[in-house]
Amino acid sequence: MLDICEAYLIFSGTRENDLISGTRALVGVHVEVERWKIAAAGEAAKLVERGMVVGLGSGTTVAQVVRALAEKKSEAAFVPSSIATQRLVNELGLKLASLREYRRLDLMIDGADEVDADFNMIKGRGGAHTREKIVASAAKRVVIVVDRTKLVKRLGEKMPVPVEVLPFAYKSAIHKLAELGGKPMLRTTPSGAPFVTDDGNYIIDVKFREVTKPKDLEAKIDYTPGAIENGIFTGVTDIVIVGYEGGCKVLRSKQDFINFMRRLKGSLQR
Ligand code: 5RP
Repeated sequence: MLDICEAYLIFSGTRENDLISGTRALVGVHVEVERWKIAAAGEAAKLVERGMVVGLGSGTTVAQVVRALAEKKSEAAFVPSSIATQRLVNELGLKLASLREYRRLDLMIDGADEVDADFNMIKGRGGAHTREKIVASAAKRVVIVVDRTKLVKRLGEKMPVPVEVLPFAYKSAIHKLAELGGKPMLRTTPSGAPFVTDDGNYIIDVKFREVTKPKDLEAKIDYTPGAIENGIFTGVTDIVIVGYEGGCKVLRSKQDFINFMRRLKGSLQR
């Protein structure tokens, strides 16, 4: 039996009723996924105790964790890894802290773009992976919160690997990263301008056909002159909390991951 978390959500779909049907289907999927994120976020928030110092990543899932923490009026202190998370923590009245005050954090809660069975990850769709890696490295425990669409057999299945680079070095970094066998592309905003990170740098997204040795690739990418940090995370995650159709599931080991994927596949085929 899956030990499904208690967090079930009441959902009202009134807003998308106004939209045309194609859009409505897309919105429906999005809302469903958002519901899974909320279920997993609620479970992650339960791990935060009064007096703890907790690192927070970035993204839509972490935003749900912050909301859940605000809802339970958490009395922990939070070290955000991006301006967006910092803003939300502040707006919702939670206590802010920084790595200048605390060298060691009790916990880090973050999202991810891809997670494999060994809990290796690709992160950085929000371009905040450099600070996230720094904050995670200061934490005693790292908890990753995702919806089930983020679980993959092999990293690189869907996502490119984001690499934060100095703007000065971006052209030469693109050539160097291509030599590692990937297809690098400068990340741009909808207006076509380079996307700029919270620290004033650029992001190069490198699409690899598959990432067979995440730890090796993580190290190799960082040798690129001008590369600050890349979005492959290995050996940092303790627990993965996954939101899905049935609520959420806490994965503590590779076997948990494999069992969950097997059961999920079975239930989706039924
Ligand atoms: C930001 C990240 C995010 O954690 C990751 O992109 C997941 O985001 P979301 O929860 O919005 O899917 O790494 O740099």
